[in-house]
Amino acid sequence: MSKEIVEFLDLGMQPMANAFLKKNQLLKKEQKYKLTICYNKINYMVSIKNTFSSKKMFNNKYPYRSSMSKSVQKSFLYLTDKIKKKFKPKNILEIGSNDGAFIKYFEKKKVVGIEPCANVEVITKRMGFKTYPKFWNDKTSRMILKRHGKFDLIFSANTLSHIRNLNNVFKNIYKVLNDNGILIIEDPSLLECLKRNTYDQFYNEHIYVFSTVSLNNILKNNNLEIYKIENLEIHGGSLRYYIKKKSNNIKLENSFKKQIKKEINFGLTKVSTYFKFKQRVQISKKKLLNLFIRLKKKENKIIGYGATAKSTTILNYCKINSTLIDYFLDTTPDKQNKFTPGTKIKIKKYKNGVSKDVNYVFLGAWNFKKEILKKEKKFIRNGGKFITHTPMPKIL
Ligand code: SAH
Ligand code: TYD
Repeated sequence: MSKEIVEFLDLGMQPMANAFLKKNQLLKKEQKYKLTICYNKINYMVSIKNTFSSKKMFNNKYPYRSSMSKSVQKSFLYLTDKIKKKFKPKNILEIGSNDGAFIKYFEKKKVVGIEPCANVEVITKRMGFKTYPKFWNDKTSRMILKRHGKFDLIFSANTLSHIRNLNNVFKNIYKVLNDNGILIIEDPSLLECLKRNTYDQFYNEHIYVFSTVSLNNILKNNNLEIYKIENLEIHGGSLRYYIKKKSNNIKLENSFKKQIKKEINFGLTKVSTYFKFKQRVQISKKKLLNLFIRLKKKENKIIGYGATAKSTTILNYCKINSTLIDYFLDTTPDKQNKFTPGTKIKIKKYKNGVSKDVNYVFLGAWNFKKEILKKEKKFIRNGGKFITHTPMPKIL
């Protein structure tokens, strides 16, 4: 490992975050990796050291579906409306189009999707959209250029941070983007992750957690640059980056300058910030485990809500298993009747709310807290309580 890379946080041995287990797989040995978080002192990028190959993580059994969440749907509806009004693009390319949650708001002939997981890609295709079950790489970008030409707008949410070779990603985006075209990227914000102690943003698929300072360094290497930023509440605090070719003379907006200032003031360009974060994460682990043990001693029934990839990191790092959580509820069909990776907690189908005999609900999908608390008013009225780990473990 080169000198500019500093390893600052060890989250232990972890299974693949989305590798939910079938009943007949419970006794099989799971493949694990060491979840180590690194900081690059030169370009300020925060990344995980080890992961699995893309083909292993993103295949025709991928369980995540964007459309399962109302907040995601709402956010994409709002954004697509804005894109149509502000940019009036004649064509749009989406990288990581999943089940079509973004694409579906556009005219079919104007939009193309790239999604390597064939089981979710086919959902978009069945709606009548042009999508390719491919990874974004040299070959795919060449094919796209040949068949569709260049694009006015390229969009990618929660995807580019899943790809190790960012220079390659942006080199290919540059080729496919019109000279006055716009690239819009959305991903969880490192600043928010550090502020909220949401260390569960780190798992095998999230190779990077971007910040404006780090992403702009990589973009600049590829003749691209950020000119505008939007802060979003989605996924526990995300940033939407508006990016242009360097040669395009759109002015850098205040939102961009303000975000850079905020990140530098918080210390995202200082290595000591990351060691302080590590200490908070270690305290958080102790507090969460103690809270579960204390509640369990009093014979409370605790379940989980939202078997997220993020919660795989929490459960395995804090060693919370089926002795502490009875089961998880989740609305995603591909997760139901399976078990959480590593910790083997059963996932049940969400039907009509949390059952009466439950005392506490651990918020696996804490990033949808508002949406969930609104949905579970009855449970709360009857004395039910929620547990969250962010910013520090507590009962809500
Ligand atoms: N854009 C959606 C889905 C995010 S999940 C949303 O914001 O809700 C991440 C998606 O990235 C998955 O659907 C995964 O298959 C896709 N992905 C992973 N690696 C990719 C690559 N190299 N090229 C294109 N898509 C990729
Ligand atoms: P999400 O936090 O988007 O993803 P990740 O897996 O990337 O960490 O996943 C939310 C999960 O929570 C998803 O499996 C669906 C589930 N969920 C529910 O079961 N009920 C709900 O009301 C919401 C909002 C989500």
